[in-house]
Amino acid sequence: MDRIYITTPLYYVNAEPHLGSAYTMILSDTLARYYRAKGYETFYLTGTDEHGDKIAQAAANAKLDPKEFTDQISATFRAVWDECGFAYDHFIRTTDDYHISYVQEVLNTVYQSGDIYFDRYSGLYCFGCERFYTDKELVNGKCPDHLIEPNLIEEENYFFRMSKYQDHLLRHIETHPQFIRPEGYRNEVLAMLREPVEDLCISRPKSRLTWGIELPFDNRYVTYVWFDALINYVSALKRRGEGEFQKFWPEAQHFIGKDIVKPHGVFWPTMLLAAGLPLYKHLNVHGYWTVEGKKMSKSIGNTISPLEMKQTIGMDAFRYFVLRESVFGQDADFRRESLIGRYNADLANNLGNLVSRVLAMQGKYFAGVVQPLGKQWTDEDNELKSVYEKVESEIGRHLAELQFHRALEVLWAALDHTNRYIVQTSPFTLMKDPANQARVGEILHHLLQAICQLARLLKPFMPDTAKELQSLLAFTEGDPALEASWGNSFAAGHKVSSPKVLFPRIEVPGNE
Ligand code: MSP
Repeated sequence: MDRIYITTPLYYVNAEPHLGSAYTMILSDTLARYYRAKGYETFYLTGTDEHGDKIAQAAANAKLDPKEFTDQISATFRAVWDECGFAYDHFIRTTDDYHISYVQEVLNTVYQSGDIYFDRYSGLYCFGCERFYTDKELVNGKCPDHLIEPNLIEEENYFFRMSKYQDHLLRHIETHPQFIRPEGYRNEVLAMLREPVEDLCISRPKSRLTWGIELPFDNRYVTYVWFDALINYVSALKRRGEGEFQKFWPEAQHFIGKDIVKPHGVFWPTMLLAAGLPLYKHLNVHGYWTVEGKKMSKSIGNTISPLEMKQTIGMDAFRYFVLRESVFGQDADFRRESLIGRYNADLANNLGNLVSRVLAMQGKYFAGVVQPLGKQWTDEDNELKSVYEKVESEIGRHLAELQFHRALEVLWAALDHTNRYIVQTSPFTLMKDPANQARVGEILHHLLQAICQLARLLKPFMPDTAKELQSLLAFTEGDPALEASWGNSFAAGHKVSSPKVLFPRIEVPGNE
């Protein structure tokens, strides 16, 4: 049986869900829905990253105990994702007991094999990033993310012998071109691995931080937050039993943003190698969203909230926009003008009008009852059918390469073609002569068949709209008729519903 395991990063609970985190969710949710519908056994994982300095600090600012604080924010994340309709299979928290004990198991294994050692260390530490920086990584002596000078810290700590696995990982990436994709990020990791890789400090003394997973071999320390959080991708499967791990792990695909390539492209695979676990299949790296050309930030006040999007234009329109407007791997800019432009052109006009026109004609000419198809089909009829057949395989090809925007492009090209079919066949003109009634019935049957295909093909991208289309066609969810071949979806006497405005146009003042 075909299988796929899709993961998102675990979100830090020091910020609310926003466009950036929602983007990772939309990409991964779309892919999970696509493969699930294709019959793949699918496991889709998301959750929250709850230990470490940053979270302890945020809890202190909120005057709450870290556990109380993380319970609250993690629940908010979950509620927002549920409200957005993301169909994850499991929500993991790094404070979950099974995760904590599995992290300790991995730490023990790696410690016992000699790949974790104790050493005195002094280095430049950025509290914001929760990590040490080398001189080379700093920009003008400052942390490139937080733009502040790191603190010089000297302490005794435990280190993971990451350098030992550098060559192994380098060879693996060289021989598996699809391990990290798109290629630019693969090259970024290759460049890191062609320089000497330093061992990774994986402990934090409790004198500095208590909010973490205690090292099983030294209770004076907690685990470095990345060494804890990355393991979620395996602990979530192990929780379901060794069988589930064996089943899904070989098909693991991690979705992440470009800022966390190093932990996922270097730390994580070397940790897996040290723990004696196989490597994941793909690391899928997406770009960053800016808003109206500016970095999204709380202090500028330009963060985009997924729930606000849901309320204003609808979740499906938001999904459509981010998937259509961005190229996977590249940065994208969120502009309200483009959002409204695409909404009106692609959703209100192209998709919405097509569906309303067809259902309106069906209602007016045949009281909604679908008419039989004759044996003889015109060239236009055959072409319409073949356009949809082609689209299906093209979507599969584009999604396999994470080209979400291209998948939607070909789907919308099919919609354009369908609108042209109406112009070419001109059912409203034909209907003026009663002798043409049977032909008009056939034309509308083909058009309803096209909408039926759309309902199925749109499902992973715009699940609510797909459902709406199914109900307008008077099918219940999962009706096998939806999967039937062209010309076989509508039984004799099947009656479709009256039209409905799917995407009301957004009028922009001064733009009429
Ligand atoms: N907790 C770590 C991940 C640990 S995974 C074991 C983390 N969390 S995060 O909440 O800061 O980021 C979560 C995801 O949101 C990352 O993939 C990040 O790239 C993404 N984004 C945050 N801001 C973003 C944009 N402005 N645009 C696109 N994605 C961005 O990192």
